[in-house]
Amino acid sequence: MDSILVKGNGALNGVIPIAGAKNACLTLMPATLLSEEPLTLTNAPRLSDIRTMTQLLQSLGAEVASLQDGLVLAMSSHTISNHTADYDIVRKMRASILVLGPMLARDGHAVVSLPGGCAIGARPVDLHLKAFEAMGAELDLRDGYVHAKAPGGRLKGAVVEFPFVSVGATENALMAATLAKGTTVIKNAAREPEIVDLARCLQKMGAQIEGEGTSTITIQGVDRLHGATHPVVTDRIELGTYMLVPAICGGEVELLGGRIDLVGAFAEKLDESGISVTETARGLKVSRRNGRVKAVNVTTEPFPGFPTDLQAQMMALLCTADGVSVLEEKIFENRFMHAPELIRMGAKIDVHGGTAKVTGVSKLKGAPVMATDLRASVSLILAGLAAEGETLVNRVYHLDRGYERVEEKLSACGAKIERIKGN
Ligand code: EPU
Repeated sequence: MDSILVKGNGALNGVIPIAGAKNACLTLMPATLLSEEPLTLTNAPRLSDIRTMTQLLQSLGAEVASLQDGLVLAMSSHTISNHTADYDIVRKMRASILVLGPMLARDGHAVVSLPGGCAIGARPVDLHLKAFEAMGAELDLRDGYVHAKAPGGRLKGAVVEFPFVSVGATENALMAATLAKGTTVIKNAAREPEIVDLARCLQKMGAQIEGEGTSTITIQGVDRLHGATHPVVTDRIELGTYMLVPAICGGEVELLGGRIDLVGAFAEKLDESGISVTETARGLKVSRRNGRVKAVNVTTEPFPGFPTDLQAQMMALLCTADGVSVLEEKIFENRFMHAPELIRMGAKIDVHGGTAKVTGVSKLKGAPVMATDLRASVSLILAGLAAEGETLVNRVYHLDRGYERVEEKLSACGAKIERIKGN
């Protein structure tokens, strides 16, 4: 397994291009299963999770061509030749569950392995399944798989009310509803930019959707969807991660393609802690105001709140802030695994359940650390950039799931970072 070696090198300055969103692309790709006609995505990120989704779609009979060095994904699923999403692929990536809604909606049946738990929490898929049941599907859980059937071969429009917000369940229900008979109303829907992006793409394919980006989405089912071309929205989590580079190290970095509406709550916290964020013609420019970063309290929430996917990176910043910060993780039950690793670098952090108290220290010190999940791994890289000495981040395969060319993007700003190839 590869590792990443980071050496603290003072202030960083430069320009970083932000890629298309992993989590948008992972729901846009299964949308190809809804139509016989081609779906082309542009601005796709070049990531291992995208390659895993490619394999999954190919295993179902879709054609997926990666063009222009992976920036364009040309997909076509004239017929779905296999309706079973196998455990071997699903276990690698939980987003695989997103093929269930499209297959069930188009052909009236699908079999998908249940994803197991994962490092950051149990992450059940009960809300996805309840939405399909509300739409008339008959579900049978056998041998670790969900066997789903729509009586008469077609789902029925329904009121789907989620007890709490789920990004994935909203995406699955939204895709399924586009081909259901009648009207579906999704209540307490997720409002993430990735949901809006999915809705925009489905609308281009002929879907009748209203209310995307609000808590109530109304979908009028149609008989068939057609082909489309759609650019993947900017990755707000990659954007937020790189906004933290000048915040942690000092200097000034411009994030190409960055949009303030994608990171509103996060940018407000940066402002509170003494980081300035300004809009430019090409994106966002971020720099640290004079002096040490101030401690701030953070609570993760569904969009438009502070994203759980930036909590680990924000913690890396607050480790060297002036004062005590309290971080509350409200989305996942086990998302503080970066804390013990940051403590190995000299951070002062007390974790109690879903709350972490971070007492800022003046400087972190480099150390060998272990990446436990995607966002944890990048938080350790950020911490390493600001630390004295060398930090070796082990198990970086998590990083490659969600950040493309991270060494290249950071080196361009003056960072000392290199990948050490594993066996
Ligand atoms: N939940 C349930 N039942 C369900 C679905 C969700 O109990 O049927 C719970 C989850 O266990 C969690 C909460 O509801 O506690 C919210 O989960 P959600 O369904 O919103 O998350 P997701 O769709 O599985 C996506 C992103 C995650 C991101 C979350 C929250 C993708 C592929 N993944 O996951 O991204 O953290 O939304 O914003 O879109 C990452 O990129 O690092 C990542 C983990």
